[in-house]
Amino acid sequence: MHNLTAALAAVATLTPNSAAANFAFRRKGRKGEGNERAKGRGKMVDQQKGEDGGGERKRWQWGGGVQADGFQATKLFVFGDSYADTGNRESTAISWPYGITTPGYPDGRFSDGLILTDFVAEFYGMDTPVAYTKINKTSDTRYGVNFAYGGAGVFDTLTPVPNITTQIDFLEELVNESVISTTDLESSLFLISCVGNDYLTYLATQPEILLNPDLQDLINALEEISRVVDQIAVNLKRLIDLGAMKIAVTSLQTLGCLPVFASSPSNCNNILDVFPIVHNVLLREKVANLNNENSNSTIIILDLFTTFRIVLGTGTFDPPYQACLRGNCTAAYGYGYTDQSCILCDDRNSAFFWDVVHPTEAGWRAAFEVLKPTLEQITSFTMKSII
Ligand SMILES: *[C@@H]1O[C@H](CO)[C@@H](O)[C@H](O)[C@H]1NC(C)=O
Ligand SMILES: *[C@@H]1O[C@H](CO)[C@@H](O)[C@H](O)[C@H]1NC(C)=O
Ligand SMILES: *[C@@H]1O[C@H](CO)[C@@H](O)[C@H](O)[C@H]1NC(C)=O
Ligand SMILES: *[C@@H]1O[C@H](CO)[C@@H](O)[C@H](O)[C@H]1NC(C)=O
Ligand SMILES: *[C@@H]1O[C@H](CO)[C@@H](O)[C@H](O)[C@H]1NC(C)=O
Repeated sequence: MHNLTAALAAVATLTPNSAAANFAFRRKGRKGEGNERAKGRGKMVDQQKGEDGGGERKRWQWGGGVQADGFQATKLFVFGDSYADTGNRESTAISWPYGITTPGYPDGRFSDGLILTDFVAEFYGMDTPVAYTKINKTSDTRYGVNFAYGGAGVFDTLTPVPNITTQIDFLEELVNESVISTTDLESSLFLISCVGNDYLTYLATQPEILLNPDLQDLINALEEISRVVDQIAVNLKRLIDLGAMKIAVTSLQTLGCLPVFASSPSNCNNILDVFPIVHNVLLREKVANLNNENSNSTIIILDLFTTFRIVLGTGTFDPPYQACLRGNCTAAYGYGYTDQSCILCDDRNSAFFWDVVHPTEAGWRAAFEVLKPTLEQITSFTMKSII
């Protein structure tokens, strides 16, 4: 069993009040609710159909007869949160044993090793792009730049880090300073990870939603989801207007199966997945609209929700919803061996989750195998090549 206080702290830099809210969040979970949704890949196929933009794009024929244009991202520009951050948070945020698998020491990744950004970079045969805070203007941005900060959201969160708007400002500055060219933007992949810090912040400040929700609370929650997704769409549109032509944005992964919220190491807290389910429906609609309105750009959704459910349902990681790092592994000053209760599991390869929120390198590797076909869509087909 992981320590609840540590678990809560891991979600964000939580205040005592917000910790209480999250505690309530967790208690509401009903035992015995399994992960029936995780079985089978049927849903994934549907998702892909739904995510290509709908409408006009129905004429796309995945895998058959259409001329591939061989898109190869020349650079990767990354925005978002800890699922994508490869080193922008201050060095004190993460300590040993983070990074124990790769590179062997804590280097700013919220994992024991490689994460989503690394696997996407590898997919394009490039090195992981440099973390924004690690560059100076003379250093090498040959593989792009990673602007993601662990803890970030589209709005300001409990963690004082640049939100996604500000992260895009950083890109714009580099373009204005000619560190990045507009040609770079057109030939690059933009990866946006937005996996729930806005909701964790919202829930932390709205404890009544978790303690004793009434209809108005639920309406407010739905409005919040809508507000977050609208802001994601604002950011996507801004990237398109800056010249981005290929964008991959994450769906919101399961919240109820994260160890921090799961009812037990083998049972999800499915009620919490109302957030990702509603979020992802709205996101798909927004992305479809943006794709229809911007014929030169293609946005795809990297469906973390379905992917995590699939991978966690395979039996490879058993028990599925248990973190490798157990005990009090977070503290005010960061993540890692924060006290003697924090211990490491024996086999990191058999744990999907590294801490109570973030996957292990093995977890991300398995997840990326499921995500890869979606990424292949953006590499092989563009509107330009079809119109
Ligand atoms: C800038 O980057 C170069 C090349 O990596 C390095 O030698 C130099 O020390 C850096 N300068 C600063 C101020 O960090
Ligand atoms: C993002 O952060 C900036 C700087 O703190 C702030 O001015 C802005 O309002 C934030 N944007 C959103 C959408 O929350
Ligand atoms: C980049 O330059 C444009 C045009 O001069 C300006 O409007 C914009 O504010 C600049 N962006 C940043 C982040 O400095
Ligand atoms: C789309 O790309 C074509 C060809 O590069 C260009 O002529 C056209 O202006 C672009 N349309 C928009 C809306 O940017
Ligand atoms: C976890 O560690 C932090 C920092 O050492 C400490 O403040 C906190 O009380 C610990 N929590 C528990 C439940 O032991």
